[in-house]
Amino acid sequence: MSVGGAISVREASKIYDPDGAGVLALDRCSMEIGKGEFTVVVGPSGCGKTTLLNAIAGFHELSGGEIYLDGRLLSSPSRPARPGSDRIVVFQNGALFPWMTVWENVAFGPMAQGTLSKEAAKAKALSGLEAMGLSLIADDYPGQISSGMRRRAEIARAMACEPKVLLLDEPFRALDALTKTVAHQFLMEVYDRDRPTVFFITHDLDEAVFLASKVFVMTTRPAGVKKILEVTLPRPRDYRLLASPEYQSLRAECQDAVREEALKAFSAGEREM
Ligand SMILES: Nc1ncnc2c1ncn2[C@@H]1O[C@H](COP(=O)(O)OP(=O)(O)O)[C@@H](O)[C@H]1O
Ligand SMILES: [Mg+2]
Repeated sequence: MSVGGAISVREASKIYDPDGAGVLALDRCSMEIGKGEFTVVVGPSGCGKTTLLNAIAGFHELSGGEIYLDGRLLSSPSRPARPGSDRIVVFQNGALFPWMTVWENVAFGPMAQGTLSKEAAKAKALSGLEAMGLSLIADDYPGQISSGMRRRAEIARAMACEPKVLLLDEPFRALDALTKTVAHQFLMEVYDRDRPTVFFITHDLDEAVFLASKVFVMTTRPAGVKKILEVTLPRPRDYRLLASPEYQSLRAECQDAVREEALKAFSAGEREM
């Protein structure tokens, strides 16, 4: 059972290539994310969402400001960024080891951490795969299963390390609509069970409102927070929710805010990333 951590982003700024072209990707961006909150981040392409995720993950330093996890400084200009097993990233283009079976992939993290024996890690992997509806393909290799199953296996692999924070960068972008709804259902079940803090980036506003406790709509680059939508729809959620007036009204509010920023980005000449 993992327990989420609270993330505090305080006036975070990031300039790429400060001595050359100087791309300002984040400009004094502040965000408070509570323990176990399901946060979804939406905003125009190229606004700085991945930059923020990478800073939280510890993949690069900030140019200004700080990021804290449960009150502990993770990142600041004077502190070299460092990834940690308390923050696990699931990328857009998956990264399962093709030479390992699915369960071996999921067991890899706990075994590498040295916290579990091989047998215990296998038992944990099988239970995580069951929660993601993947028991039947535990002995298959990543190349033998569908892309929707691979994405779910990656989430099972991330959760096996019991991270405080699960960071997902458009994880279901390449999935067709039906496969995506299946992936949502399993992700929600795992979230309801383990309650990690989730930081989930997407372009899909239906996905955003359906999954989130809170949606952060970002401004066009440099990213700052334009609007916060509290999604108080009850959990567990299922697809009947999409027809409810509460859902429809949140979805419309989210779309208006994103559209306004996307139009600004378009006139500023940003391109699809
Ligand atoms: N390594 C990098 N070097 C220089 N510029 C970058 C780098 N990574 C991203 N950028 C620029 O920073 C801005 C924000 O990028 P990103 O965070 O990937 O946006 P998003 O994820 O919202 O689409 C974009 O203008 C992008 O071109
Ligand atoms: Mg991105």
